[in-house]
Amino acid sequence: RRIYILNGPNLNLLGKRQPEIYGHDTLADVERDCAALGAELGLETALFQSNHEGDIIDRIHEARDQAAGIIINPAAYTHTSVAILDALNAFDGPVLEVHISNVHKRESFRHHSYVSLRADGVIAGFGVQGYTLALRRMATLLA
Ligand code: DQA
Repeated sequence: RRIYILNGPNLNLLGKRQPEIYGHDTLADVERDCAALGAELGLETALFQSNHEGDIIDRIHEARDQAAGIIINPAAYTHTSVAILDALNAFDGPVLEVHISNVHKRESFRHHSYVSLRADGVIAGFGVQGYTLALRRMATLLA
């Protein structure tokens, strides 16, 4: 079964952008680690990143018949996007929300997540390891 791993704005710069907050691993490292773990778990992973809200929404729509579950780090759209929440509400499978940093330790505008209204689970502050932890949880939810 296929799992979509969707990433929002600025995460293309992962590893270069504010490494003191987000670490040195890149999104390509995340993609590789998830693919390797997915192979162990019997899940095919497809990682996508966009800086454009509508492109993320299009991917969520596509997931309706292309993916069994969604792992999403909506980045800054977490805190602003009713449209991404609505798209996720039109998806039937499990949704897990990942934040690399501990958003609750940061500015108050990062404390609220629209996506959490839909997410079956949330991971924050585990660094990029949050993605593989979410993938393990996804395997449990789909078992
Ligand atoms: C983030 C946290 C968001 O507040 C921020 O806008 C990001 C990344 C994280 O992974 O920690 O871009 O989602």
